Amino acid sequence: MRSDSEHAEMSTNSPTTSDDTMQAIVQEAYGSVDVFRHERTARPEVADNEVLVRVHAAGLDRGTWHMMAGKPYLLRVIGFGFRRPKNPVPGIDVAGTVVAIGADVTKFAVGDEVYGMSRGSFAEYAAVLEDKLAIKPANLTYEQAAVVPISAGTALQAVVDSGHLEAGQKVLVLGASGGVGSYAVQLAKALGAEVTGVSSTAKLDLVWSLGADHVLDYTKDDFADGTHRYDLILDIGGLPSLSRLRRALTSHGTAVIVGGEEGGNVTGGFGRSLRAPLVSLFVGQRLAMLASKERGTDLDRLADYFGAGTIRPSVDRTYPLDQVPDAMRHLEAGDVRGKVAITIPTNNEGRS
Ligand SMILES: NC(=O)c1ccc[n+]([C@@H]2O[C@H](COP(=O)([O-])OP(=O)(O)OC[C@H]3O[C@@H](n4cnc5c(N)ncnc54)[C@H](OP(=O)(O)O)[C@@H]3O)[C@@H](O)[C@H]2O)c1
Repeated sequence: MRSDSEHAEMSTNSPTTSDDTMQAIVQEAYGSVDVFRHERTARPEVADNEVLVRVHAAGLDRGTWHMMAGKPYLLRVIGFGFRRPKNPVPGIDVAGTVVAIGADVTKFAVGDEVYGMSRGSFAEYAAVLEDKLAIKPANLTYEQAAVVPISAGTALQAVVDSGHLEAGQKVLVLGASGGVGSYAVQLAKALGAEVTGVSSTAKLDLVWSLGADHVLDYTKDDFADGTHRYDLILDIGGLPSLSRLRRALTSHGTAVIVGGEEGGNVTGGFGRSLRAPLVSLFVGQRLAMLASKERGTDLDRLADYFGAGTIRPSVDRTYPLDQVPDAMRHLEAGDVRGKVAITIPTNNEGRS
């Protein structure tokens, strides 16, 4: 964390001032964690269809790492900012309290406890589109709720909307110990599937605890060795080739390609996702690419599962706002079990 003299008066414990600024992590360039600065910046203005949330906790996800690094470069080309991020406050997932609403907002009111996908959650205040927000399940803490939106929404879209999972099917989750995978395992189990989860050796216990029926260690076991075939593969880690995925599928099985790291700086392995639907045209199996959408309605669809405790967020650690670089290093090291939350000081509620 750099410390600039002009920001020397600010600290994590400083009270919110009466001006229209806030504490935030600010990123004005792409690069390593050193691009993150903890400083005061302007509070976001809310558009007519947006809500201003006093952030209690934020979630860290792989997408935020990609936006920090500006990689794969494809991201810059498709509109996130060519030389620097268009949005200088990082963080997407948010949980907090509504403190102001835009003129067209009808679903939320000041005081509501909410969670969703914001435009900049590593801050005291975040603006969130009304349709990317939902009421927080009462039994989740803010830290738990903050690690839900992107990862659980993606898992729901992969398992249900793209994977069309049916009870009794055999499902393989590659990347079961990660953000998306930890929800995918629990959701597939809740929907009546027989679930095999794949992770590194150190996280096999986590995958068991999520309810998996079988676990595989990707450092020792080959999921595509032909001994087992799956009706649905959720490909969330490891970037296996399409031929390996097909070897592990039943003759009419489906593989949903969500993502994976180490795919290179330019496209991030995206070519595999683009080839998948083409290959599908010529084989009995279905290989689908998932481009997840940020939707508050997905959180509403998941509400009963969270309310009943059928699906629970796996919060590995929480970090205060000024330690976002440490949280990101933890993610980069591959050490996160499930998800990491960022907590924001709440020493002065409301919009002053
Ligand atoms: N398509 C979309 O719209 C969409 C949406 C969200 C995320 N994504 C992408 O999906 C990927 C996963 O996201 P995430 O948030 O779940 O990331 P994450 O929390 O970092 O989890 C990554 C998972 O991949 C596992 N993994 C690593 N190497 C593996 C291998 N060789 N074989 C099997 N599993 C392996 C990890 O296991 P260990 O930790 O045990 O090593 C971990 O479970 C990322 O690339 C992300 O950018 C795509």
